[in-house]
Amino acid sequence: MKKMKIGVMTGGGDCPGLNAIIQAIVKKANDYKFEVVGFLDGYTGLVEGNAKTLTVDDVNDIYQDGGTIIGTSGANPFKLKDGQKKMLDTLEKFKIDVMIIVGGDGTLSSAKKLSGLGVNVICIPKTIDNDLSSTDYCIGFQSAVETAAEEISRLQTTAKSHDRVMIAELMGRSSGWLTLMSGLAGGAHIILVPEKEVDIDKVCKIIKKRRKLGKTYTVIAASEGINLKNCDIPLVASDERDESGNIRMVTRRVAEVLEKEIEKKTGISTRSVVLGHVQRGGSPVAFDINFGIRLGLSAVEMAKKKKFGYAVVIKGVKISSVKIEDVVEKTKVLDKKLLKLADFFSMM
Ligand code: F6P
Repeated sequence: MKKMKIGVMTGGGDCPGLNAIIQAIVKKANDYKFEVVGFLDGYTGLVEGNAKTLTVDDVNDIYQDGGTIIGTSGANPFKLKDGQKKMLDTLEKFKIDVMIIVGGDGTLSSAKKLSGLGVNVICIPKTIDNDLSSTDYCIGFQSAVETAAEEISRLQTTAKSHDRVMIAELMGRSSGWLTLMSGLAGGAHIILVPEKEVDIDKVCKIIKKRRKLGKTYTVIAASEGINLKNCDIPLVASDERDESGNIRMVTRRVAEVLEKEIEKKTGISTRSVVLGHVQRGGSPVAFDINFGIRLGLSAVEMAKKKKFGYAVVIKGVKISSVKIEDVVEKTKVLDKKLLKLADFFSMM
């Protein structure tokens, strides 16, 4: 059998679990005597031909480390000058038989285009937002939930001591999965997600009602992407965009607006924190380590079987595969029942 040459790339925001995927890919490939080339810093490496061969020694024991040893970026290769041509040239120059592309919606949409151009592609869905379709989980999500839940629960004692409202702003431009699951686990009393418009007056009412019942403090978990109703302070979203063309969330700092508005309307001392990139940092939790290893191993098995144009996903406890378009063409809608359940439980 001809020796297969696998290219691997991580794109979009980093997250814990990526190195477990990389180690598993290299280990399994080595077992089959395949070669692995890592393209550096997302699509930038593929366009510029910036890459390095990955050996078993290079990836030894990286599976518990956060981040990605091959770097990442949100670069969209189809928007870079001559990006498409340069990418195809790179793949030819390095004699790549198949690209394993790990990324979120932006990265995998480009991967789908690349596959449409005739390149052999296998995708692995990754995002702490957990909003890619046809998979129960995206790698990194569980680790981010663990980190954010711990930070939210730390706000309880300080909120209680000062009889304050404490607000934690979480990542999630248009998806509330992270805020919902970590807000619930971290004991937030009010959980605000982008999928449901937030009426500030209703939020203030809950805070005041809690006071009347003797609960003198309230912890709020809010997604960075929420939309506000009855808010006097404008939630400014400037047009500043990232490399993928998304509005940068720092231009509409929800935490600050909520803090000012709630304090003004309730007269209760209110403080806010932006959890920010802390949520993406650090080592993966056990779930993401195991998940990453399984994803990487499956991707190489798929490469060996020449099952191209597919993404590796998890359904229940089983790893399986679906067409790339099934993962990127729709977003995974927040489970409304779960949201209701969280509302009920957290207010108690
Ligand atoms: O898509 C993942 C994500 O973490 C979003 O939740 C967040 O809005 C965005 O990335 C932040 O991206 P950057 O690293 O470019 O600030």
